Amino acid sequence: MNNADLNVVTGAFGYTGKYIARKLLANGHKVRTLTGHPERTSPFGNQVKAYPLYFDDPDTLTLNLRGASTLYNTYWIRFPRGPITFDTAVENTKTLINAAAQAGVQRIVHISITNPSASSPLGYFKGKALVEEAIMASGLAYSIIRPTLIFGAEDVLINNIAWFLRKFPIFLVPGDGNYSVQPVHVKDVAELAVGAAERGENTGKNTIQDCIGPEVYTYEQLIRLIAASVGSKAKVTHLPPALALFFSRMAGYAVRDVVLTKAEIDGLMAGLLVSDGPPNGQARFSRWLEENGETLGRSYASEMNRHYR
Ligand SMILES: NC(=O)c1ccc[n+]([C@@H]2O[C@H](COP(=O)([O-])OP(=O)(O)OC[C@H]3O[C@@H](n4cnc5c(N)ncnc54)[C@H](OP(=O)(O)O)[C@@H]3O)[C@@H](O)[C@H]2O)c1
Repeated sequence: MNNADLNVVTGAFGYTGKYIARKLLANGHKVRTLTGHPERTSPFGNQVKAYPLYFDDPDTLTLNLRGASTLYNTYWIRFPRGPITFDTAVENTKTLINAAAQAGVQRIVHISITNPSASSPLGYFKGKALVEEAIMASGLAYSIIRPTLIFGAEDVLINNIAWFLRKFPIFLVPGDGNYSVQPVHVKDVAELAVGAAERGENTGKNTIQDCIGPEVYTYEQLIRLIAASVGSKAKVTHLPPALALFFSRMAGYAVRDVVLTKAEIDGLMAGLLVSDGPPNGQARFSRWLEENGETLGRSYASEMNRHYR
């Protein structure tokens, strides 16, 4: 990958994709994005041109990937909705991978998740494993990055935890809250992804690596830390997971969004958002909270507005 190379990033006007695009531009690369919302205003002005990420038109996907050396893939869904299930998301990603191979792309840098497993009962983690398998079988060179929970200014989950903590006198924790999370900053994810591509180019190697922050918290500790940083006096209360899910659905009706899914609660409680490996993200969640507590959770971040409206 030399600096004149064209890189295609999915979702460069979104969350993780934006940081990847920013890092690539800072390193002097050319960037194009594939997005489900090509009409949205580019945070990069005309430095990053947007093309549609429409999976029912593989020929156009191939056309818009032509000339690129590397594809950074962030595409995934947080939960099934309507006709788009995790199985559909797997098939969509396979369409994208095939289009990349057809277009002559050399490497795919794929953002996965910690602890994907083809035998997982959780669609998110199972689908991620199936996509990884498809990438490995594609013949393309690959760098697979597996982040834990990603935090950053544009995040949905941490922001909305803060929003609920600000708004309500009680905050519900599913189960005992003793399960671990190891948040990693979005800039660290982007740096690791771009670095993995550059190393892969130099060594010719394919890699799979977890992408994890330096601090591990229990979920309850994480909630209490966020509460302290935003000055919340909410009482942290434990509920059986099914009851916590019920109330999160009620909250979802009120904010016209999906707040937390059963699969997310199950994944959290199963400790799937931690890694045994050494941390490779630099940013400390606690420090980031100190710096951002004032603004965190001031407004609700709607998944529905981002992806379905
Ligand atoms: N956020 C986290 O805490 C976290 C943790 C671990 C792993 N990951 C993984 O990191 C990657 C990036 O996550 P992110 O949170 O940064 O995502 P994002 O920017 O919100 O979305 C990434 C891409 O997926 C598309 N997308 C998302 N939801 C969609 C939907 N329902 N229907 C159609 N397209 C959809 C987006 O479309 P548009 O281009 O239209 O925006 C964008 O191209 C994902 O693969 C995710 O699984 C995220």
